[in-house]
Amino acid sequence: MSALGQSRMLPRVHIEKRDAREAMAALPAGSISVLITDPPYRTINRGGSGGHLKRWFSSSLSWRQIGDVLALARSRMRPDGVAFVMTNPDGLREAIEALERAGFVRVRPITWDKVAPGLGWGLRHQTEYVLVGYLPGSRALCGADLVSVPAVGPNTANRYPSEKPADLGRELARIANVRRGDRVVDPFCGSGALLIGAAERGARVTGYDVAAAAVKRATGRLTKPPAKTPAKAPVPVRKASKPSLVRIPAGKPASRNSARAAKPKARKVTR
Ligand SMILES: C[S@@+](CC[C@H](N)C(=O)[O-])C[C@H]1O[C@@H](n2cnc3c(N)ncnc32)[C@H](O)[C@@H]1O
Repeated sequence: MSALGQSRMLPRVHIEKRDAREAMAALPAGSISVLITDPPYRTINRGGSGGHLKRWFSSSLSWRQIGDVLALARSRMRPDGVAFVMTNPDGLREAIEALERAGFVRVRPITWDKVAPGLGWGLRHQTEYVLVGYLPGSRALCGADLVSVPAVGPNTANRYPSEKPADLGRELARIANVRRGDRVVDPFCGSGALLIGAAERGARVTGYDVAAAAVKRATGRLTKPPAKTPAKAPVPVRKASKPSLVRIPAGKPASRNSARAAKPKARKVTR
């Protein structure tokens, strides 16, 4: 059967152990409504050993390589599609360039406020960015350019390395007005956290990862019976002085940095 035929028959949740580039190349044109991804970019280690990440996944990619994956994904997007691509502040410039090279006509950041990133050596990342890549006919987005969602802490049981909070994916799905009929794709899905919100909204979700542990985790999470629809869940809104900020109550506030030993040398690591 052709790759096209296989893709048309994909079930509502499709998680596959596959290289992102190869997977994007196999998708048919016009099959991606929304891309939400947190790529395995190389980054600066600002003090920690990064050992807990190396244990889990050894492959990280340059923004040039990630840009190649984004270009393939862009060529498979529906005309009203939109892309959300995460980066930390160290990679911001390269990530913007990668999206522009991939053919997105406009790129702008949504700031992710991690609420309580914890202690650590050096300058902490209180914020990361979700870059929005637009096509000429991209759907209108709704909501704010600041989302405030607690990070997944280092002490969270069985967390996947670099795991993002499911509520962040829920916010992005809400901002992109994801609905039934959409297909939301994450080519570097890890634990599948960023696809959960889209699945809850009735979209078809597709995730790829080269790590078997990731595929197992993402499949387990996404094939569970659906949780309460987030649109109906009460979400406290910050008072009138800061109307654009949506706050989600903190669970276990912490960050990867708080788990790291202080070590002042900056070097490239796998994240
Ligand atoms: C930053 S993590 C994603 C974390 C995820 N958003 C979560 O919340 O769990 C990046 C993922 O990309 C995967 N990865 C690395 N190289 C890849 C490749 N060439 N193709 C597909 N996945 C890859 C890693 O195994 C890792 O799970």
